[in-house]
Amino acid sequence: MTTNPSLKTRFTDDLGCDVPIIVAPMFLVSNVDMVVAASEAGAIGSFPALNARPVETLRDWLREIKQRTRRPFAVNLIVNKSNIYYRQQLDICMEERVPMIIASLGNPAEVIRRAHEVGCKVYCDVIFEEHAKKAVDCGADGLIAVSSGAGGHGGNISPFVWIPYLKKHYSVPIVAAGGIADGAGLLAALALGADGVSVGTRFIASRECPVVDDYKQAILRARPEDIVTTYKLDGVPASVIRTEYVRKMGTELNWLERKMLKNRRLRQVVFALRTLRSMRLLEKAAHRTTWKQLWGAGQVASLIDDVQPIADILRRMVEEYEQVRNALPAAEAVERVAS
Ligand SMILES: Cc1cc2nc3c(=O)[nH]c(=O)nc-3n(C[C@H](O)[C@H](O)[C@H](O)COP(=O)(O)O)c2cc1C
Repeated sequence: MTTNPSLKTRFTDDLGCDVPIIVAPMFLVSNVDMVVAASEAGAIGSFPALNARPVETLRDWLREIKQRTRRPFAVNLIVNKSNIYYRQQLDICMEERVPMIIASLGNPAEVIRRAHEVGCKVYCDVIFEEHAKKAVDCGADGLIAVSSGAGGHGGNISPFVWIPYLKKHYSVPIVAAGGIADGAGLLAALALGADGVSVGTRFIASRECPVVDDYKQAILRARPEDIVTTYKLDGVPASVIRTEYVRKMGTELNWLERKMLKNRRLRQVVFALRTLRSMRLLEKAAHRTTWKQLWGAGQVASLIDDVQPIADILRRMVEEYEQVRNALPAAEAVERVAS
């Protein structure tokens, strides 16, 4: 994609992509076609390693991606103990020379050390300062500022604060995640100090996305208040569309569950079972027609009106970015009004 020079950022320099956009990793959603379409269009396609199951399939996915595109892409690795396949996934990613890892949760020290040995970049998802400091101390190449309203396990800090805060305190490139679906969002994130954006929910409503049409239609219908935070999946807040099923299930933990969550041992057992159950429900809802409609999405679903090919969505984002940027009052005009 030929782009406006102002879209050349430290992120595009670091990764060698055309536009500073990651088509974000989405559990049970992202697949090879999405990664290839995104990377071929000049962005960074990505997927969670956990989507390739059984774990050896990850090598097949990576080989297929590398066969279909020479452009950079990323794999998302969950680096804490909840991911029992972590070590195998990391080995495969390193053997297959993945260009970029997006590390979530846990301590990224080992991923960063091993990745740097083979020239792979590591960007870490961060929702708190504590995560950011740990990631930078371990040598992360960049931070993904996951803000409030984001799809998945979003943070609770406003992007208006989180992006400039990270920019002010850390010198690595910052990628904004959460609430971005169009060129205005891209421009706003860059204005706040981001070097790139990571966009998830927008791409669920894409042609290449393999989820059932009911899921895509629910995104097109959603209003901002239809996206709710539930603690019922694995005890960690997650953004879902408020379907009839979610309404019936409720979103808060009961007294007993909250108590169990506080006890480390109980939490591991009870919530491991619950996570397994939720994963099955989410997987079924994403790929089959069912009344148990449990669909992940961020608040930005309310700004999405159509299902388009990934390349067209990206092209439109860049065009809108340029239009919105050109339509901003010129700096002299603002100064004139102020004086
Ligand atoms: C359905 C869904 C699944 C997600 N799964 C993951 C995941 O497995 N790993 C991860 O790091 N982020 C995950 N995310 C978060 C995205 O990578 C990204 O940070 C987020 O979607 C950005 O917010 P947005 O949806 O408002 O664009 C998921 C998001 C969604 C909507």
